[in-house]
Amino acid sequence: MYKILCKDGSAKRGQLETVHGTVQTPVFMNVGTVGAMKGAVATTDLLNLKTQIVLSNTYHLHVRPGDDVVKKMGGIRKFMVWDNPVLTDSGGFQVFSLAGLRKIKEEGVYFHSHIDGKKIFMGPEESMQIQSNIASTIAMAFDECPPHPATREYMQNSVDRTTRWLERCKKEMARLNSLEDTLNPNQLLFGINQGGTFGDIRMEHAKRIADMDLDGYALGGLAVGETHQEMYDIIEKTVPYLPENKPTYLMGVGTPANILEAVERGVDFFDCVYPARNGRHGHAYTNHGKMNLLNAKYELDDRPLDETCDCPVCKHYSRAYIRHLLKAKETLGLRLMVTHNLYFYNTMMEEIRDAIEHKCFKEYKKKKLEQMKEETK
Ligand code: GUN
Ligand code: ZN
Repeated sequence: MYKILCKDGSAKRGQLETVHGTVQTPVFMNVGTVGAMKGAVATTDLLNLKTQIVLSNTYHLHVRPGDDVVKKMGGIRKFMVWDNPVLTDSGGFQVFSLAGLRKIKEEGVYFHSHIDGKKIFMGPEESMQIQSNIASTIAMAFDECPPHPATREYMQNSVDRTTRWLERCKKEMARLNSLEDTLNPNQLLFGINQGGTFGDIRMEHAKRIADMDLDGYALGGLAVGETHQEMYDIIEKTVPYLPENKPTYLMGVGTPANILEAVERGVDFFDCVYPARNGRHGHAYTNHGKMNLLNAKYELDDRPLDETCDCPVCKHYSRAYIRHLLKAKETLGLRLMVTHNLYFYNTMMEEIRDAIEHKCFKEYKKKKLEQMKEETK
């Protein structure tokens, strides 16, 4: 059950109550694709990093270790030791970004596993069955993330098929949730809006899926090569056609600046690999811009990554030591970087929630963007 606690302009401060706990929004979901955070950050450390909800992937868990294994081990939350909400992406996007050869048909997608090349079929029913076995808190609908750019004709056909797939997802999820041996009979289903940068296709699609009474609504197919401004315009045009009393989720986005712009336009949920990926490449997010720890100027710097940060890393470790670990390719270096970056993102979301509550989101956004000038370029 989602409710809006308060608003500041279009920015929403809400909460989503689930059987696995309550999520305060706006929220950044921490990405654990295969049931593990990148950078060897343990799930048992996540609560110290203000993580509320973890995102995992249907496709990855299906190919390894197999969703049957996850089910036998009591579901993904028990398996990975995370007693809080989990959202699973449906596999649609991963099939399109990972699998080489693939064929899209009305019934679903035929492709090859990126692990062993084995032939796999996934359609709406299969995706729902796998997500039911994984027993996440929130399942995503099976969709096509269309390429960018795409012709108008391609986009309209793709979106129409995604709508038909959504109807099949909804039906299958209702059936699975009513079965005797389902691990999470209260699994929620979020639909995904598509349409690329065609504003009218986006709006028409949003109207159609808004009527389907889903538990939440995502904007997919963004941050795939269009400009930031095009993405913001699409969010601004589309969100008003999605039900306001349901959570909205901008998939795979993004930089701190992207998140601030999307919150201002009414988005509640986010996920992105940036904090982990940038951390592994030696980039730390700080309140004075992005830092490259590999830079020689940090060789003898005994200050923490960010002097304003309260994370477990900044409490103890120096820039010089972390730089040394990264240079020596020690796993600990990656872990410290990713830990700090996840804390930075989760803390920014906490500040965002606080700013909306105090009706000063615009001022907060301006201040934050100025502090992190690198991000706004
Ligand atoms: N992650 C980022 N974009 C998308 C999308 O369009 N669809 C799905 N399923 N996942 C995504
Ligand atoms: Zn820190």
